Amino acid sequence: MAEILPPNMLNERPQTPAGLLSNREKDRLIERGFLGLYRWYTARSQETRNWNPDRSFDWKALSRDLPPEIVTVTQGFFAVEQYAPDFTSSLLNLVRRSHGRSHFQLRWGSEEEKHADAWENAVLFSGKRTPQWIAEYKERLKSQTWELPFPDAIHNLVYTVFQERATQLNYLNMMKIAQGKSDKPHLANFSDPVLAKVAQTIAVDEAAHYNFFLEGVRMYLYYYPQRTLEAIKNVIGQFSMPASTLVPDWKEFSETVYRAGIYGPRDFNRDVMQVAFRNLGIESRKALEEGIKKTREVPDFEGYNHQSTAIFDTFDYGMVEGDVKRLHIKIQDYEKEIGFDTVDPTEFVKNPALPGTNSD
Ligand SMILES: [Fe+2]
Ligand SMILES: [Fe+2]
Repeated sequence: MAEILPPNMLNERPQTPAGLLSNREKDRLIERGFLGLYRWYTARSQETRNWNPDRSFDWKALSRDLPPEIVTVTQGFFAVEQYAPDFTSSLLNLVRRSHGRSHFQLRWGSEEEKHADAWENAVLFSGKRTPQWIAEYKERLKSQTWELPFPDAIHNLVYTVFQERATQLNYLNMMKIAQGKSDKPHLANFSDPVLAKVAQTIAVDEAAHYNFFLEGVRMYLYYYPQRTLEAIKNVIGQFSMPASTLVPDWKEFSETVYRAGIYGPRDFNRDVMQVAFRNLGIESRKALEEGIKKTREVPDFEGYNHQSTAIFDTFDYGMVEGDVKRLHIKIQDYEKEIGFDTVDPTEFVKNPALPGTNSD
């Protein structure tokens, strides 16, 4: 479809140099990738993670004698997940024009909603909080609205990668404690198989979320390296867990989580940031910051689709390309199963932006 621009805008229209992908084409490719990934994700979610927060756990068997620290942590998990409708509606609104991303956010929201209900059941069946107390606590939580940590889609996408990984780590460490594996003296004699199963089940969902968003960031990193690396740098510079300013007893929760060996700044550095960096081909925070600084020293032609080559030294572009290719193979395999390959296949298109890599 031909674009009609008023005559006075013709000069401002960015020109795409021959051989490079236009932003419009990049956006189309990212959208197709998201759509294929979303369909693959939904099928897999229904096949392998179709659990229910009431029926999938033997709530009657949950210990009535959980240590107070464990109740505090469980209550905090419940509080954060309680904002699932806010997370979903805000993110959904941000990506509403993208089929793959907006439909995914609905699916994601339906999984986060189960987390909220499962953790609430854990608090209720612990017997350490009355139903009235829980109802009032929920009312307090709901009186506040969670808002997007960043104004634009790419920063929020990047934020979600780190957030999902951090949440997964919290639940995995809770699972280990509930399996009786804590090395903290005050939790050494504790175990509860029901709580361990809850934490494990939810952690598996969080891992799936992390992977979805990670694949999304990889696509952005591949087609828009500069702005994606900048977003990663900005997000890690001011990362905090979602709802940390909304949950009334956050300080007690985060201190208890820290003392229980579940999560703290060191865990964020080692098990969240480093892991995500490794998955995105970024060597370290220092390499990221220095690389971005270097690209700023050369003139910026962003709107004109020229790329400074310095950006490609900041991360392992070849690795990210391999990952984006693999994602497309995964989508294509799924599409073959259904028959999409014969009517409307998702295809990988190489980004020829990196000098000297046009040959393969
Ligand atoms: Fe969750
Ligand atoms: Fe999640």
